[in-house]
Amino acid sequence: MKKIAIFASGSGSNAENIANYFRGSDQVSISAVLTNKPDAYVLERAKKLGVPSLVFNRKDFVYSSTVIDFLKSLNVDAIILAGFLWKVPIELINAFPDKILNIHPALLPSYGGKGMYGMNVHNAVIENKEKESGITIHLVNEEYDKGAILLQARTAITESDSSEDLAKKIHALEYAYFPVAIEAWLSGVK
Ligand code: GAR
Repeated sequence: MKKIAIFASGSGSNAENIANYFRGSDQVSISAVLTNKPDAYVLERAKKLGVPSLVFNRKDFVYSSTVIDFLKSLNVDAIILAGFLWKVPIELINAFPDKILNIHPALLPSYGGKGMYGMNVHNAVIENKEKESGITIHLVNEEYDKGAILLQARTAITESDSSEDLAKKIHALEYAYFPVAIEAWLSGVK
């Protein structure tokens, strides 16, 4: 059984989708949901799902071993960033080398880097009149949005699509591809 922790900063619809996908699995279990936002809706979802959660602040995350200690105490094998918006500190990357997976709501390397998250990404894609966008599932290394890419999936953008329409299309791709990609990736994680 592989144990995963999910990090999310907001709504957590991906976190819930992942938890539902693995419910009853004998391969993967969700040990905890972690968030940097005390009022993030993902906490409500975790409660409903019966998954323990931890709220941490920047000091816990960057300047102490609180988060790493918590994950180690649960014997977590891998970390899934599902709408998590802070840069991951090197200490956490070193504690879980090649064991942190992120989803980005665009086709990296386009629309990646600092400030490029959530609706900011979709607004920029629509403003630039792109004909397509998509999702990127990638490993996390010390360079923001630049770790090895495991999977990309695309969706067409029509002229009438708003940023909100694009966000819906991207979420649909995320729900379809992320849990399956996590499952395949985890089977190779030692
Ligand atoms: C998702 O679209 C995810 O790709 C994006 O935040 C959204 C979270 O939605 N992540 C990033 O922008 C990371 N740079 P959710 O809270 O409903 O799962």
